[in-house]
Amino acid sequence: MLKEAATAVRLRAYAPYSRFKVGAALRSTSGSIHVGCNVENVAYPEGTCAEAGAIAAMIAAGDTRIAELHVIADSPTPVPPCGGCRQKIAEFADPDVKVVLHTTDGASRTLTVAELLPGLFTAAHMART
Ligand code: THU
Repeated sequence: MLKEAATAVRLRAYAPYSRFKVGAALRSTSGSIHVGCNVENVAYPEGTCAEAGAIAAMIAAGDTRIAELHVIADSPTPVPPCGGCRQKIAEFADPDVKVVLHTTDGASRTLTVAELLPGLFTAAHMART
């Protein structure tokens, strides 16, 4: 279900510069599915990742917690989320939440949020402010 949703939204990615289309689909704890794709920009740093798009869609829909996330790309090996997206995912997912990474060839790799981002920055680090 989430793999299929990520596969479908990947085709709508706007990636004219990298030509690397990525799709992401997450199920929130409410049971709803939210999807996102990468959206690039001619000013390269302004582009956004598929994972960030799915998270934005979840928040816009009124959900706040990720129960499971799938990401798919046409890559030789399952592509892990970038560093920034790992922190974004960790903001809205418990450490044991599964992140399933797929290639369009059918390979997959499953990691937990804790495995993706050990030693993450949290609000507790700002306790003295
Ligand atoms: N990208 C994602 O959308 N998610 C990832 O997990 C890795 C990278 C996008 C960003 C950019 O549009 C393209 O892939 C190449 O980096």
